[in-house]
Amino acid sequence: MSLPTHIAIIMDGNGRWAKQQGFRTRIRGHEVGVEALRRTAQSCAELGVKYLTVYAFSEENWARPKAEVNALMRILVSSLSKEMPTLMKNGIKLQAIGKLDLLPKSAQRELQEVKDATAGNSTLVLTLALSYGSRQEILQATKTLAREVQLGQRSLDSIDETAFGQALYTHSMPDPDLVIRTSGEQRISNYLLWQISYAELIFMPVLWPDFSREHLEEALSQYAARERRMGKTSEQLNEKST
Ligand code: IPE
Ligand code: IPE
Ligand code: MG
Repeated sequence: MSLPTHIAIIMDGNGRWAKQQGFRTRIRGHEVGVEALRRTAQSCAELGVKYLTVYAFSEENWARPKAEVNALMRILVSSLSKEMPTLMKNGIKLQAIGKLDLLPKSAQRELQEVKDATAGNSTLVLTLALSYGSRQEILQATKTLAREVQLGQRSLDSIDETAFGQALYTHSMPDPDLVIRTSGEQRISNYLLWQISYAELIFMPVLWPDFSREHLEEALSQYAARERRMGKTSEQLNEKST
């Protein structure tokens, strides 16, 4: 069975889950969402997935009510240190992408600590997309490359797909093979637009806090049944494999 090297997840549906469960605010959904992430990262590490990149907070999410944004930041800070034993036990290296300097200083500090402490782990790279927006990332990469050309440090012709990919936050990882979005919404919401150009997309109705090992395995079996043709014909692919 073919296993994706890199899975990207849009962890959606925390607010609806909290409402369904009868909680007064959406916050409980975010708290229980952390548990779903712990389970999923652990399962990915066990199954042999090498990269897991999760959408935890979008640039657009800053526009939510202040109380919810504050709660999300508080959950981020408290989870980071709490999850250290799980990360170490499972050989998980933590990374973060996005406009991290917009995060509260306490969150930046915790992130740095956990990144440093897990830097030597190599079973799974878990990347949190925080204050992340793909258009903003693409614009930033464009400006970086344009500046290099302006300063005479690179030629215009040297800007190819590889060079562009190198200027993105995700330069150290392969492109995602599979994108999973929970909660039934079927949109990308400004996530990894450049990187997922050939990824398989799977939309699942389950709300993120309920996402379990079974849901992950269901997505993996759907993925394995797909034929990634990359522009070629089915016949060409079968020729190669026989
Ligand atoms: C995803 O769940 C988590 C974040 C965006 C931070 P939501 O908070 O979007 O939950 P719904 O989509 O409103 O149910
Ligand atoms: C996308 O979820 C961002 C995260 C999962 C962190 P949203 O719930 O914010 O997305 P939209 O706005 O409904 O598309
Ligand atoms: Mg949502």
